[in-house]
Amino acid sequence: MRSILVTGGAGFIGANFVQYWFTQHPQDNILVLDALTYAGNLASLDPVKDHPNFTFVHGNILDTNLIEELLRHHKVDTLIHFAAESHVDRSITGPDAFLETNIMGTHSLLKAAKKVWLDENLLNGKEHRFHHVSTDEVYGTLSLTDPAFTEDTAYAPNSPYAASKASSDHLVRAYNETYGLKTTISNCSNNYGPYHFPEKLIPLVITNILHDKPLPIYGDGKQIRDWLYVEDHARGIELVLNKGRVGENYNIGGHNEWQNIDIVKLVCKLMDECFAKGEALPADFPQAKSAIAGNSASLIEYVKDRLGHDRRYAIDAAKTRDELGYEPQESFETGIRKTVEWYLNNEVWWLAVMDGSYRDWISEQYK
Ligand code: NAD
Ligand code: TYD
Repeated sequence: MRSILVTGGAGFIGANFVQYWFTQHPQDNILVLDALTYAGNLASLDPVKDHPNFTFVHGNILDTNLIEELLRHHKVDTLIHFAAESHVDRSITGPDAFLETNIMGTHSLLKAAKKVWLDENLLNGKEHRFHHVSTDEVYGTLSLTDPAFTEDTAYAPNSPYAASKASSDHLVRAYNETYGLKTTISNCSNNYGPYHFPEKLIPLVITNILHDKPLPIYGDGKQIRDWLYVEDHARGIELVLNKGRVGENYNIGGHNEWQNIDIVKLVCKLMDECFAKGEALPADFPQAKSAIAGNSASLIEYVKDRLGHDRRYAIDAAKTRDELGYEPQESFETGIRKTVEWYLNNEVWWLAVMDGSYRDWISEQYK
């Protein structure tokens, strides 16, 4: 039985991870620590809130004393670190928060873990693990003909977000090498699925169609991302925890490269199909005029490109497959349909998180 501290568990991937983990390991204790920034939403943890082994703590990873107390009090043996500022566009307009949370916040967790697990030996020799959730964006960008990123690809981050994640990966590595903290790192490609904050491409497109708002395509729309269903990311982390070698990085990806414009057109098509099925959706979303007319793609609008926009990401997950037996289970075909349907059925969730502040922020970017 594990006692797990999950940081950032009220965010997109953290919440999906906690839900997944309880389906597989209901006997484990999970303590979620989350600062509930604009991206954190307690409603994303509704499905587990009554689980007897679930605890939520509202707090900041920068608060090292709090982390130490939590590690001691709950006899935590596994820390899974999701908490981060995660949106590239926000890192371009306001990098400071990214350095604070992603670099200093990760260091605060490492310091606390070292103190309680190594210096105080609180677990009396029982195994501990610090798992750091990172991204493929640390590797920089690929041309169309480059081979996909492996764990040996040199780090070359291009956005302040990616640079802050790369820094945090280096700190995790250093705590393993220097102090012997038992760490692992996973570098994952773009996730999609339920509970994804609607400032990221896929949920933004779905919710904008429902409001009949433009679908902004940065630059020529031919940038490529490698999309993975979020539950497959959770499965990958589970394998790294159970079978991964301490001190190692593991790539997690979907073998699923798509140009942005093609993803957007696909989501438009799926939305049109859903609206064509009957009267219910047009009645629920009367403002979605383009979808009702079967022409969501008419909302596509090319806008100025993101600064320093990475052209292509692609993950080579051969090490994770060969060492840990990892394979994504969800096909893109089924995953994207499930995702569209989830947003159509969970208006209450996304309306609650779209309290206006992020829309104001997005409008600012396109003035
Ligand atoms: P998210 O922005 O949806 O969620 C981040 C969560 O962290 C939120 O709940 C937020 O409240 C919390 N948080 C932020 N600052 C905090 C602080 N100082 N203290 C405590 N909690 C804080 O992010 P996400 O998409 O779920 O990403 C989770 C992790 O996975 C991140 O580390 C990200 O870099 C990594 N990642 C994301 C993707 C992706 O496609 N979204 C891909 C690969 C890796
Ligand atoms: P995003 O979801 O922000 O993820 P990331 O930047 O971490 O890959 O963006 C995915 C891709 O979609 C990226 O190439 C930027 C592009 N994009 C748009 O073209 N328009 C948008 O409105 C957004 C949010 C993203």
